[in-house]
Amino acid sequence: MKDITRPKESTAIAENIVPVSDARILGIETSCDETAASIVENGRIILSSVVASQVDLHAQYGGVFPEVASRQHILAIYPIIEQALQQAHMTISEVDAIAVTRGPGLAGSLVVGMNTAKGLALASGLPVIGINHLEAHIYAAWLYPQTETPKPEPQFPLLALIVSGGHTELVLMNDHLTYQRLGATLDDAAGEAFDKVARLIGLGYPGGPAIQKASLGGNPLAFNFPRAWLEGTWNFSFSGLKTAVLREVRKLEEKGGSLPESDLAASFQAAVVDVLVSKTMQAARDLHAKEILVAGGVSANRSLRDSFQMRASCPFHIPPISLCTDNAAMVAGAGYYRFVKGQRDPLNMDVLPNWPLSEI
Ligand code: KG4
Ligand code: ZN
Repeated sequence: MKDITRPKESTAIAENIVPVSDARILGIETSCDETAASIVENGRIILSSVVASQVDLHAQYGGVFPEVASRQHILAIYPIIEQALQQAHMTISEVDAIAVTRGPGLAGSLVVGMNTAKGLALASGLPVIGINHLEAHIYAAWLYPQTETPKPEPQFPLLALIVSGGHTELVLMNDHLTYQRLGATLDDAAGEAFDKVARLIGLGYPGGPAIQKASLGGNPLAFNFPRAWLEGTWNFSFSGLKTAVLREVRKLEEKGGSLPESDLAASFQAAVVDVLVSKTMQAARDLHAKEILVAGGVSANRSLRDSFQMRASCPFHIPPISLCTDNAAMVAGAGYYRFVKGQRDPLNMDVLPNWPLSEI
């Protein structure tokens, strides 16, 4: 670890977060179908970020095949870590800590990253820190590449919307690493809805990018799909919307002819985006959040990004697209804030495939 300093003016940083000058964290991510490693300096500056996607391997199954995913992580993880170190022009001895995704995610996939992190920690003497994958998605908003000028830092109280393949959550952050869960999906996650609806209307896997692409030529008003507002709560529900699309597809199929895929995709996407943006903005107003943060795979969606851009009444942060979907820079970023807070995890820690953010 390098010299520890507490600058006289650290207003943007929580009181219990002591900046460590030049702390470099190696992040490792293997929770689902991306094998990734990255080096991040001071929780913000990306020195390298390498992601090996398994998407082509799983496309033939129409979704992630867990055993195939773990096997591929085993094959890819060491070369990916080496590449991340090389691109940052560093050796492992110049790293200050290893941050690894501990959960939630696929057990067999998480174990590969975790065991790799433990092996590296044992061999190098470096501390290892287990990171919650949803927390990592949030911390993507603090990152920027070494070659770019620093981005404004998100300010607390911060309203965070996390929209991924497995989760849809609204969380209030009054400070670094603290999460007040306001609501979540009662059934399908937003990303899961994109994936299932894409399958229903015959688009490829992964469904999110396929729906976005098909929507380009479609009319979002062609079908008036339902929006589940769940008034009085900060929860979400997407299963009714998915069923409405299914009913429409059946009706159209009975009539014969080809499906209006673009109109179906655009109308579905509009319904999801409408609910996500409206509820997030309302929560930010009601809870007096200073700023909004959107993270997770679905935040890569163009229509969602444009809608926040048009409708946000306070500053909002959405990571660049490469940092919305799974990557290890976000794990290293979150790892830095835990590192400076003093977190060190024992080498016998286990993965937590169902680890809720609110239990951190
Ligand atoms: O965060 P992520 O990469 O992995 C999980 O933690 O789950 O999110 C993956 C999800 C998938 O459901 C995928 O369809 C969705 O994010 N996704 C998108 C887009 N890109 C990825 N959904 C909508 N539009 C996109 N452009
Ligand atoms: Zn994710």
